[in-house]
Amino acid sequence: MQVSYQAPSNIALVKYWGKRDRQIPMNPSVSMTLAECYTETKLTLLEKTSDSSFVEFLFDGVENNSFAQRIEKYLDALSDKLDWIEKYSFKIESKNSFPHSAGIASSASAFAALASCLEDIDAKLHKRTFDYRKASFLARLGSGSASRSIQGKFMLWGHDPHITNSSNEYAIALDECHEVFENMKDAILIISSAQKKVGSSVGHNLMNGHLFKELRYQQARDNFNDMIQALKIGDLDAFGNILEAEALTLHALMMTSHPSFILMEPQSLNVINKVRQFRKETGIPLYFTLDAGPNVHLLYPDHFADKVEDFIKKELLLFCEEDRVIYDHIGMGTQRK
Ligand code: PMV
Repeated sequence: MQVSYQAPSNIALVKYWGKRDRQIPMNPSVSMTLAECYTETKLTLLEKTSDSSFVEFLFDGVENNSFAQRIEKYLDALSDKLDWIEKYSFKIESKNSFPHSAGIASSASAFAALASCLEDIDAKLHKRTFDYRKASFLARLGSGSASRSIQGKFMLWGHDPHITNSSNEYAIALDECHEVFENMKDAILIISSAQKKVGSSVGHNLMNGHLFKELRYQQARDNFNDMIQALKIGDLDAFGNILEAEALTLHALMMTSHPSFILMEPQSLNVINKVRQFRKETGIPLYFTLDAGPNVHLLYPDHFADKVEDFIKKELLLFCEEDRVIYDHIGMGTQRK
């Protein structure tokens, strides 16, 4: 049996930072699904023989053992969820639409694509239709943020008493969003393509002993609800305020953890200052966010694209590594290929 899926990356608007047990988030998060930054994965089930390896993994056509080991651990741990997994060997061929060295976290798109393949096979073997929640659930077990790369423009992951059907186990799509957010753009400014200074597992763990953890989780729960409200009523100001506060909080948490990490570069701060100045001068709703690294995501409604992209070219490219920017936009999630 062979199946292929393409799954996008996503950018968190309200950040997931801190987890417990088996990838259970300490607070609910909200993300926007991307379109152009994606992973395409082909999974082939092979008959298991005594000398076959459990997982053969090829990235861009080249064998990659360290990734094969991570996937092997992931699949092994899924044997209590997928009753057929131990019966086969797996050949997995994967490629990303974005350069591996772009400094973009690829685990969200990678696990979303792989989990979609697994759910597709599970559905076929059990003669049922593809279940997006199960795909999100399986993706979450590989990488928490991958649960949000399955379906819908804006995704909610984590239980919240105000949101019906919200769950720590899988992400759900936001049921309605205002038209102003329907065609959002995300220009990803590549400040550095160097490997991340801190892996996300280490980062999440640092939250356990963090002095500010309870306040942070409370703030994130409030921001989660306020962000959903902003997305529903079309409040760009509230959207931008929460977006930027979330990015700066994530970085502040890393700066104040033990050990401490500074994940921005001077160029990231230069971009942030320029963006705030541009917004003040033009009134154009251009806002920034960051993941746990130095690259800056700039979010804006598509009808401001010409002005924003002109500003990026004239004033921000000089802060990017080799003038690199990826122009992405809102997407819909995983697709069978
Ligand atoms: O999915 P993980 O374990 O790689 O964690 C992702 C953490 C952030 O990207 C920093 C925030 C988020 O919510 O995506």
